[in-house]
Amino acid sequence: MIRRGSSRISLLVLVTSLALLAAACSDEGPGTASEPPPADTSDGPPALDEQRIESGRELYGLQCEVCHGADLQGDPDWKTPNTDGSFRPPPQDASGHTWHHPDQLLVEIIREGSGSTLSAMPLYGDILTQDEILSIIEFFKSTWGPEERLFQWERTQVAQES
Ligand code: HEC
Repeated sequence: MIRRGSSRISLLVLVTSLALLAAACSDEGPGTASEPPPADTSDGPPALDEQRIESGRELYGLQCEVCHGADLQGDPDWKTPNTDGSFRPPPQDASGHTWHHPDQLLVEIIREGSGSTLSAMPLYGDILTQDEILSIIEFFKSTWGPEERLFQWERTQVAQES
């Protein structure tokens, strides 16, 4: 009796799994080739690396703080150009617009300057390695909120594709 009962259950399991398999393979079933793949909601800015943030913070203190401020606050009057038309150092935290730019452009500005001939900012291409520059940018990112991070990360993705 026990044997018959259990083999009936396994037959039921087999039939059910075959039915499920058939449903999964049918054209109307979910997950068929005609449907777009589900959106990958796990995507988003990658987690920041604590060690890189720390080395970025140190390099920032040595190279950038003198102009951009100990708290990344920039010049208090950064939105007003100097009388000669040059800019004052902008903030690097979320109150500035560094987070409007993709990684690639930030690296370029830091290596080669903003393009302004009047710029007071030194060119760091021969002073810092690419890795050191990316660490400083990692440090900046650690001070931004989730919205600024998501925005800047998306810009970086778009810049990568173009
Ligand atoms: C001598 C002052 C000075 C130093 C030192 C300096 N900067 Fe700047 N930085 C400026 C000024 C002024 C600007 C505004 C744009 C311009 O004039 O080029 C600027 C602009 C920037 C921008 C563009 C920001 C934006 O919102 O578009 C970035 C990024 C930046 N600096 C990063 C750095 C980093 C990183 C360092 C250190 C490795 C550094 N700066 C050192 C003066 C400085």
